[in-house]
Amino acid sequence: MAKASAQDLLARIQNRKATVGIIGLGYVGLPLAIEFAKAGFPVLGFDLDEAKVKKVNAGKGYIKHIPDEAVREISRRKNCRATSDFRELSKADCVIICVPTPLTKQREPDMSYIVSTATTIARTIRPGQFIVLESTTYPGTTREVVQPALEASGLKAGRDFFLAFSPEREDPGNPKFSTRTIPKVVGGLTPSCLSLAEALYGAVVVKTISVSSPDAAEATKLLENIFRCINIALVNELKQVFERMGIDVWEVIEAAKSKPFGFMPFYPGPGLGGHCIPIDPFYLTWKAREYEIPTRFIELAGEINTAMPDYVIGRLVHALNGAKKSLNGSKILLLGVAYKKNVDDMRESPSLRLIELLREHGASVEYHDPFIPSLPPTRKYAYRMTSRPLTTATLKAADAVLIATDHTDVDYGLVGRAAKIVIDTRNAMPRGGRAKAKIVRA
Ligand SMILES: NC(=O)c1ccc[n+]([C@@H]2O[C@H](COP(=O)([O-])OP(=O)(O)OC[C@H]3O[C@@H](n4cnc5c(N)ncnc54)[C@H](O)[C@@H]3O)[C@@H](O)[C@H]2O)c1
Repeated sequence: MAKASAQDLLARIQNRKATVGIIGLGYVGLPLAIEFAKAGFPVLGFDLDEAKVKKVNAGKGYIKHIPDEAVREISRRKNCRATSDFRELSKADCVIICVPTPLTKQREPDMSYIVSTATTIARTIRPGQFIVLESTTYPGTTREVVQPALEASGLKAGRDFFLAFSPEREDPGNPKFSTRTIPKVVGGLTPSCLSLAEALYGAVVVKTISVSSPDAAEATKLLENIFRCINIALVNELKQVFERMGIDVWEVIEAAKSKPFGFMPFYPGPGLGGHCIPIDPFYLTWKAREYEIPTRFIELAGEINTAMPDYVIGRLVHALNGAKKSLNGSKILLLGVAYKKNVDDMRESPSLRLIELLREHGASVEYHDPFIPSLPPTRKYAYRMTSRPLTTATLKAADAVLIATDHTDVDYGLVGRAAKIVIDTRNAMPRGGRAKAKIVRA
């Protein structure tokens, strides 16, 4: 087999002639496709979901924080097309994998999406192609899972094709940072693989940070998310202690934040949500078992965060008790089902667990979320619910209103005036001014 030349591909990347294939056009893949298309690269997007493929080709957006105009713009430029025909993968010079990495029911890494994608690429892989994994995963995945699946084609990584890992660092809904302005960590299997990764991402992001291996890049992403998971667990624990002591944890965090060094604020909530923080740490925990190293710190943070919905329900029961009511038979209006404010993403949202617990306790539950008109089925839950309008009547009809997400576009003044009891897990109510309702922090 002739040794593929990294120089040829490098030149094609530098001239914006290299076709970039992106597999998985979700929260990560779609903005990436937009950036490469805007930078002038020919882009081919791949997804199993025909609806997404059709929308991209029609220039229509489907993710709230990615404006329709951005998708329209790339479809107008004619250098970006989406398809679900994976035979077209051979047309791409660089292939970036952005498929999901969830946990199984047993809370172990579900590698099926990565494995099936790598197997699909192997069917059409050709010498000189550059494959990059972006999906968050445990250290070792690129070398131990992706590389052998691709090499089943008969081609050899680092010689016939190139391979790297570069973790995604999206913060959906954050107006200060976008795909282009977030520095990107890259780790290549060989020095040539690394050079290609630096050139490819260097063309679309503000800065690339090179590490010595794909494993180091995979570990970097996990460190970032474990750091968040553990610090959120810490403030969730402090919230409970301070509440008993009559101290407002939000006030304390606000004051501590004034320290100009050595402190970074994290905020408590009803539990962890989103595609990353509740999941990624357990990719490392699982892998660490192979090395017989217990990850007690990560497990403990997971335990605390997972118990938060139960804590919130306990506070709700206590508040209803004060009004001589039981949760059994009460009407609860849940404010917010998205996992964080101002996004339309409810994956792993603690609200889903809250609905489950409320129903288990015999409460009837409705919800309001301006970003989520109806609750789509998830791997774990299949609620048939639609968002109720937030009116004086819906608020008055509820025995308690439970704020799980503090979307900006909610009239907290109205909530405070019309609700009987408000359980506030996000410190949203101070934004509503004076309230008639009994406000309970949870
Ligand atoms: N969402 C975030 O903010 C974020 C941030 C950092 C990292 N990540 C990581 O990026 C990866 C992707 O996450 P996401 O949020 O974009 O997920 P997503 O569910 O929004 O998108 C994944 C897309 O992949 C498609 N898909 C699934 N299997 C496929 C296959 N075999 N072939 C082609 N397409 C397939 C799905 O239809 C979907 O459109 C995950 O590993 C995640 O942990 C996500």
